[in-house]
This record gives sequence, structure tokens and C-alpha cells, in this order.
Amino acid sequence: MKIEFRNVSKTFAQQGNGSRRRVQALMPVNLTIPKGEFFAIIGPSGCGKSTLLNILAGLDTPDEGEVLVDGVPVRGAGSDRVVVFQEAGLMPWMTVSRNIEYGLKLRGMKAADRRERAEHFLKMVHLSKYANAMPHELSGGMRQRVSIARALALEPKVLLMDEPFSALDAQTRDVLHDEVQRIWQETKTTIVLVTHNISEAVFLADRVLIMTAAPGSVKRLVRVPFAHPRAKSSADLGTFTAALHVQIKEEVDKVAARELDPDWTPELMPTKPANDIASGI
Ligand SMILES: Nc1ncnc2c1ncn2[C@@H]1O[C@H](COP(=O)(O)OP(=O)(O)OP(=O)(O)O)[C@@H](O)[C@H]1O
Ligand SMILES: [Mg+2]
Repeated sequence: MKIEFRNVSKTFAQQGNGSRRRVQALMPVNLTIPKGEFFAIIGPSGCGKSTLLNILAGLDTPDEGEVLVDGVPVRGAGSDRVVVFQEAGLMPWMTVSRNIEYGLKLRGMKAADRRERAEHFLKMVHLSKYANAMPHELSGGMRQRVSIARALALEPKVLLMDEPFSALDAQTRDVLHDEVQRIWQETKTTIVLVTHNISEAVFLADRVLIMTAAPGSVKRLVRVPFAHPRAKSSADLGTFTAALHVQIKEEVDKVAARELDPDWTPELMPTKPANDIASGI
């Protein structure tokens, strides 16, 4: 599905030192993600990545502007958009398999088919031996793999992922990167991935949005010019990742400088978007 952000902005009320304050999380964001694109979002901590994703998921509302999915304004969560968060969020009273089957059941899939689909995706995340275990019997990384399997089993038209791999060990992460790449190529699902891992973004995404330090806006939209499937070991990917590092570091340095500036407070942030939107690097 095609995704359009039209002038989407967001402020939050927060407790400041002594009084409530309004902090701008997102400057007006304009962005179009074509159907079937793998789109990654990177930027410093606190720049509004999750806020942007949550607005697209329908879990938060913008102050102004709107998000359109295939031309239809987002009015709340919907089964066309499935979200994977950093924490697994499994239902603790259901077995691993039933956690995966639950969403399929809601869609009216027959019990035998649900079970088969759950088995298939559990195998993919190397947890087929744990189908009947309870979530509390798994490690954090194992729970997260179940959560990813659960999302993939739903075969959503739009898959939204907020740092889904960050709690995983490097080997599992590599396996899941390959799987997500393969599934995306097979299904042509539109994927939006928020990550702090620049090489992950470069390995997986067609385009990468680099956000400015808070309040978040579009700093750059960068097309990753390598055909899929990609190899992690490619020297070209490494060079490209290094170039993006430089861009991000500019924004991370801004955040660090603010911390040291005694006169800077969050509500003093500029209210006009930075006019440095560019494509390519
Ligand atoms: N519910 C909330 N109430 C108040 N302020 C919020 C809320 N959610 C987010 N914010 C503020 O909005 C800004 C953006 O937060 P957001 O979680 O979108 O950042 P992020 O880019 O996802 O950061 P990270 O990389 O650390 O996950 C921050 O200044 C944060 O303090
Ligand atoms: Mg976040």
C-alpha cells in the first residue's frame, strides 16, 4: 500500500523543571512511500522516529496534517498495518503457537491452517521446538523472535517495525535480516523500519530517511542503489554505510551540544522546518 504523510506535525505536553511545557516532537513532515517499498528511518534518539511510526500505525494522532494509506486517511489502528515493537508484547496466558495463531483466528482462518502457518513461521525464527511453551519460559530474544514471527504470519499489507532487532544477538539478527528481506521480496509488502543500526538500514532498505535532531523533520532521503538480495559482506554496502554515518553524526552532535548548553531547553526548539531537504548523498 502507498503511504503519504501530509504536513504531519506533533507536539507533546511534558513536565519541565517546575512547570508543564509543550515540546515539539515533529515538524511538518511530507513524505511519500510507494507501494512495496522497504523504507528505513534513522535519526538520533528522541528525534521523533517512533512518533512518526505510531501516527502511521494509528496509535497516535498528529496535531496537524494527515497520513493517507492508499489514499484513505488513517483514523486508528487497522489490520492492514501490523506493528512490531522493540519489546515482544506477547499474551502471557497463551502458548507461543497460540500467540501467533490468535490474529489468524480473528481473521477467520481454520484451526488446522492456523497451526500449520504458526509452525512454518516458528521454524523460520528457529523456535519450532517451543510452540507449546509459555512466553515466560523464553528468553527476551526468543520472545522477540516470536513477536516477529507473529507479525510475518499475518502477511500484512504494511509492516511497521520499531527497532525490532535491537535486543537480539548478532547471529539471530543476521538470520532475521535475511528472512525479512526474502519475505519482503516474495510478498512485496510495504515495510517501514525504524532503526539505530545504519548498516541494517543500508542492507535492507530501498530508501533511508535521515531525520534531524528534535524536533524531527526530513534531513535527507537517500536511495540505496544496490539490487536485492544484498550481501552483508559487500564492500559497497560498507562504504555507503560509512557515508550515512557522517550524516547521522551531525544530528547526534547537535543533541550532545544542547546537553552542554546551559541556555538550551526543549521548548526553545525552532518551530520552522530546516530547509535542507535533499535526495542522494
Ligand atoms: N507520550 C509522550 N508524552 C510526552 N512526550 C513524548 C511522548 N512520546 C514521545 N515524547 C517526546 O517526543 C519526542 C520524540 O520521541 P520519540 O519516542 O518519537 O523519539 P525516537 O526518535 O523514537 O527516539 P528513540 O530513538 O530513543 O526511540 C521526545 O522528545 C519525547 O520526549
Ligand atoms: Mg523510538
